[in-house]
Amino acid sequence: MTLRLDDTLMFRDKLDGVHGINPASVAELAERFADVQAEVRHRREHGEYSFLKLGHQPDVVDAIEHWADGKRRRFYHLLVLGIGGSALGAKALLSALRPPAWNEWPAERRDGWPTLTVLENVDPVTVQEALDRLDPRRTLVNVISKSGGTAETLAQYLVVRDWIERTVGVGAARDHFVLTTDPAKGALRALAREEGIDSFEVPAGVGGRFSVLTAVGLIPAALLGMDLGELLAGAQEAVSEAESNTLAGNPAARWAALQWQAQATRAANVHVLMPYSDRLREFAEWYRQLWAESLGKRLDRGGRESFRGPTPVATVGATDQHSQVQLFIEGPFDKTITFIRVADTVGMLEIPARPGASPELSYLQGKTMGQLLDAEFKATREALRSQGRMSMTLEIDTIDARHLGRLLMFFQIATGYAGVWYDVNPFDQPGVELGKVLTFKAMGRAGY
Ligand code: PA5
Repeated sequence: MTLRLDDTLMFRDKLDGVHGINPASVAELAERFADVQAEVRHRREHGEYSFLKLGHQPDVVDAIEHWADGKRRRFYHLLVLGIGGSALGAKALLSALRPPAWNEWPAERRDGWPTLTVLENVDPVTVQEALDRLDPRRTLVNVISKSGGTAETLAQYLVVRDWIERTVGVGAARDHFVLTTDPAKGALRALAREEGIDSFEVPAGVGGRFSVLTAVGLIPAALLGMDLGELLAGAQEAVSEAESNTLAGNPAARWAALQWQAQATRAANVHVLMPYSDRLREFAEWYRQLWAESLGKRLDRGGRESFRGPTPVATVGATDQHSQVQLFIEGPFDKTITFIRVADTVGMLEIPARPGASPELSYLQGKTMGQLLDAEFKATREALRSQGRMSMTLEIDTIDARHLGRLLMFFQIATGYAGVWYDVNPFDQPGVELGKVLTFKAMGRAGY
């Protein structure tokens, strides 16, 4: 199983000779990488970067599989309540590893696996619509909050708990819930303890946006029939690859270093991710949060005000060729684009011939739709290159649990390395916490 990174088109000599990173800087980055790797190792030994352990957690997988076996086929819907890092991972997993429009498939074609609804926002219209659509008797609710105190998630919990209780009764409602939260702290942990509601832990050292490979993502994945072993095996491959001490042999580190270098020396403040696959649309949104919340910081590691961070943009090809690519090709020279190409779709879905078709149609006939998608990716990359725009390409053979696990871990590792290049703490989110505190105040929570 491979994940290939092609970074050729980040460099000036491969673009228009004017824009792009100076190829000579590669040697300097490679030399500095020794210190970056040493800092990551040091911090890892002192309790940071705990997400790197997630490729190997057989006991957690066994416990989740065992629990999920007891729930399978009893519920028709899985309703996830969570926001930010407690929701985006589950959504990325579903859209990558289950067929498009999963919820619209009849139960027999879903082979008994439940539909999935993720309520992130507290827009009352969305929440009410979900409750009107789902059957409470057949809904299992996974409430996910690392802190156990996020207002959006707890408000959803209160509304949904009441909705279930009104139909199945107070006593039976408990069996419709599973809580994923901090091992010791917070309102959800207290509920699990006091009411004996099923619960799983988010390991203490793993923050929300790095938690997709903990129970946060693994419970929805297990309930939807995904292969947890393969997901984690793919993640472990990315971890093993990141043990390499050379930038050349460590693609996640190289991707992060080049993103940083592009911003530091070419003012490329915008980092676009553009998978050429609808199944990775939600993955791009997961990346957007990971990259933004980890690197957008007022203070550097030394506590000095420095207001750092790239702006990530989530797009999907070929759709956004007709939306944002005009800006990418002709707008300010302030972006890098990372394409994700999925090799095995190229041969899929032949475009049939029609007798007497005009030349505007006939050139498509006998080709495949996957071929067209791939031609569009190559054409867009070449158009960008010809106009001096930097891009990288990540290529995977296919989208399955193993490749997805590897991709997820690749971006988490890259974010961890980027924290060192940007000299910020990628694992905190004081800006988000400030917003949470002001919300508590505005809503009259005691103590705020
Ligand atoms: O990545 C993060 O830490 C955040 O995006 C959180 O996931 C988000 O704020 C939700 O927090 P919690 O899981 O504590 O409810």
